[in-house]
Amino acid sequence: MAIIKVNELTKVFNGDIRAVDGISFEVEEGELLGFLGPNGAGKTTTLNMLSTLLKPTSGTAIVNGHDISEDPDSVRRSIGFVFQDPTLDIELTGRENLDFHGRLYGLKRKVREERIKEMLEVVQLTDRADDFVKTYSGGMKRRLEIARGLLHYPKVLFLDEPTLGLDPQTRRAIWEHIQRLNEEEKVTIILTTHYTEEADHLCNRIQIIDFGKLVAVGTPEDLKSRLEGDIVSLTFKDPAHLMKVHPLFQKKDWVSSAIPVAGDGGNAAGMSRMMEMMRRMGRGGGGMGGMGGGGGHGGGRGGRVPKHVKEMMEKAVSGEGGHPMMAGAKQLNLLVDDGGHRIPEIVKIVDGAGVDLESVQLHKPTLDDVFLATTGRSIRDERGSFMQTVRRHRITSSARGRRMRG
Ligand SMILES: Nc1ncnc2c1ncn2[C@@H]1O[C@H](COP(=O)(O)OP(=O)(O)O)[C@@H](O)[C@H]1O
Ligand SMILES: [Mg+2]
Repeated sequence: MAIIKVNELTKVFNGDIRAVDGISFEVEEGELLGFLGPNGAGKTTTLNMLSTLLKPTSGTAIVNGHDISEDPDSVRRSIGFVFQDPTLDIELTGRENLDFHGRLYGLKRKVREERIKEMLEVVQLTDRADDFVKTYSGGMKRRLEIARGLLHYPKVLFLDEPTLGLDPQTRRAIWEHIQRLNEEEKVTIILTTHYTEEADHLCNRIQIIDFGKLVAVGTPEDLKSRLEGDIVSLTFKDPAHLMKVHPLFQKKDWVSSAIPVAGDGGNAAGMSRMMEMMRRMGRGGGGMGGMGGGGGHGGGRGGRVPKHVKEMMEKAVSGEGGHPMMAGAKQLNLLVDDGGHRIPEIVKIVDGAGVDLESVQLHKPTLDDVFLATTGRSIRDERGSFMQTVRRHRITSSARGRRMRG
C-alpha cells in the first residue's frame, strides 16, 4: 500500500527558481527510499514540503492518508524528521533533548520515560544519555537526532543527508542503524543523499533528482544494469588530448557511450567568460529561449550574442560536436562490452592519435556512472559545470516564458 502519494509537486522560489519542478511518485509502506542528487537538486525542498515545513507552489501530496496542504497537523504527528543541519541543544544532555521533544509532542511523563529508554537503546546511546551533547562525537549527535525523530513512533521517518560530513567509519555505523530501523522496527524511511555509495548500499529504491525533476527511478541494481558492459576511464594530461580522441571513440561501434567528465582541472577563465556571455543573453530579452530543448536550434532571438558563440552554445546543449563546453575535462569514460579485452585496442587508438594517457581504469558501472549517463555530468562536480549553468538558464527562462504566457 502506498503510504505517500505525490502528484506534480512544485516549489518555485523568488518567482523563478524552480527548486522542485512537478514531481510525482509513490512510496510503499516499509520502503527505504533514497533521493539521490547533487547539491541544489531540490532534495531538501521536497522533504520540507512533504513534512509540511514548506508550502508547495502547486501540486499535492498525501502522507499517511493526510493531505499536506489540508491537514498539516495530522501529517506532522505521523512523521519524524531529521534535518540536514543539526538542531540539538548542545547545552542539554542527550536525555534532556529527547525529553523536550517528547513534551512538544504531548507525550505523558511515563510514556516519555519509556520511549526515551527504548530509543536510546535503539541508537545505542544509553550509557551516554546523561552527558552533555556538546561532549558527543558527530556520529553520536546524528544517532541522538534519529532517536528524537522516532520518539513519537512515526510511521514515516524523513532523513535529510543523514551522514553529511561524517567520516567513513561513522557513516557505516549510521547506515546500520538506519537499516535496522527499517527492517526490524518497520519504519518507512525516506532519505536524501548526494553520496552515491550511500544510496547504493542503503536503499531498496532510488529516485535520482536533478534540477527539481526525477530523472531516473529504480532499485540500485536496476539502475546500474541499464549500463550494460564495463566503464573504462581514461585520464589525460591535457584536456586538448581528450578532445582529440573523443570523436575517435564515438565512431567505434563497440563503444556505447563516451562521456567526458568535468573534473577539478576545468578551465576557469573560459568558463567565466562564457558565463558572462550567458548573463548578457539573459538580459538581452530573448533569454536562452532560442536555444530550445532536445537539440532544437534557435531562431533569431538574442541578437546581441555573436553568431559563432551562439552556435557553439547550441551544440553544447544538444550534445553535438563532442561537447565543446567540456573543454576542461581530462577524464573520458567509455562504456564498452567486455572492457578488459578492449583495453589494448583502446590504448592503441590513443597512441595512434599521438597523445599521452595518464591512467586507464576499469570498473563495473556504479551509480556515479548512472548519474553521469543520465545527466551528462558528474554528481561530484560541486562547483557546477558549465553545462549546469546552461541548463539552469534554460529552466529559468522556460519558466519565465510560462509565466508570461500564463
Ligand atoms: N528559501 C529559499 N529561497 C530561495 N531559493 C532556495 C531556497 N531554498 C532552496 N533554494 C534553492 O532551491 C534549489 C534547491 O535547493 P535544495 O532543495 O536545498 O537542494 P538540495 O537539498 O538538493 O541540495 C537550489 O537552487 C537552492 O538554492
Ligand atoms: Mg539539502
